[in-house]
Amino acid sequence: EKQGFKHFMLKEIYEQPGVVRTCLEKYVDSTWQPGQATSPIRLNLAPELTANLENIQIMACGTSWHASLVGKHLLEQLAGIPTVVQYASEFRYAPSPMTANTLTIGVTQSGETADTLAALETEQQRRSQQPAHLQARLLGITNRPESSLARLVPAIIDTHAGIEIGVAATKTFMAQLMAFYFLAIEVAYQRKTVAPQRLGEIIDGLQQLPAQLEQVLESQERYVETLAHDFVETQDFIYIGRGINFPIALEGALKLKEISYIHAEGYPAGEMKHGPIALLDAKVPVVAIAMPGTVFEKVLSNAQEARARDARLIGVTPMNEQEAKETFDTLLPVPAVDEIISPLLTVVPLQLLSYHIAALRGLDVDQPRNLAKSVTVE
Ligand code: M6R
Repeated sequence: EKQGFKHFMLKEIYEQPGVVRTCLEKYVDSTWQPGQATSPIRLNLAPELTANLENIQIMACGTSWHASLVGKHLLEQLAGIPTVVQYASEFRYAPSPMTANTLTIGVTQSGETADTLAALETEQQRRSQQPAHLQARLLGITNRPESSLARLVPAIIDTHAGIEIGVAATKTFMAQLMAFYFLAIEVAYQRKTVAPQRLGEIIDGLQQLPAQLEQVLESQERYVETLAHDFVETQDFIYIGRGINFPIALEGALKLKEISYIHAEGYPAGEMKHGPIALLDAKVPVVAIAMPGTVFEKVLSNAQEARARDARLIGVTPMNEQEAKETFDTLLPVPAVDEIISPLLTVVPLQLLSYHIAALRGLDVDQPRNLAKSVTVE
């Protein structure tokens, strides 16, 4: 069943190009041209769900919460809708005041996470007695169309990643990201917040992903495996990123702690000097996600501050960037893509790094201690 892979997690990391291909086939009109009078995206959502939207709130836990942060960036920057991402476990006992014309999205790959379901139920109940503009509009993003989530909400986006066995979410995270790209493009198309030409560019960028993911996996697997030897004894890691890649810093850190039991934290790179930089010395490697675009120079200068504390610097960055090459001690190269697409690529070397460190430490990668694949209790 592992098809020659040592662990399910590694197999699932390798399934990601195929997952992205499936998502594109299911949800994108491949013949779409800018200027066409129909949407490039086929999510089949009822028009009432997204009509006159003023706010979006997203409920999730863990890795799904990280995917939701990327979703927030896309929904705000492309569709122009103020979006908040809630920890479902917090929201259920302290729900924020109700806002008008609000889409509530529950994100859970298993569709069974108790806190996420409870947060959505809270929302549905408290809004049911309210006037029309405050009524709940619920949407689920899940990998299990037969799950409790799918029964609770009237509409879902099925992420089509196939069953994931490794406790550490990898391919389902990738598929959740794809769902958010599609939703944000769809709403941006409806609201005309992005020029059709630009939407076309983003869609082209998504279409190129499967081949780029294959290239990252092919070119880096051996290299990351060798690199992992350097960190078998490491006790702390810091991950930094900004903008759309800040959530990838959080996700890289979560993957590492879950399966390798190494302490790791993700921060927005600009926050380092407000405290966490005090942790740095030669024993604490810093992984920076530095992709060309709005915050590239900023991340590089944040990384240089870490270098001044003797930290070993690892950069997830394109190969052709001279300044990045000079900044980092070690590169985890990814293709130079449009910044807005970049999280779909930058997460992959971080998944591989976590996997190989944990595997080298001889740990049970697919079933880490104290964790369950779906958390059906509070
Ligand atoms: O099934 P869900 O997406 O609701 O699960 C949420 C979290 O429990 C999950 O993402 C957890 O953080 C993973 N083990 C991450 O790898």
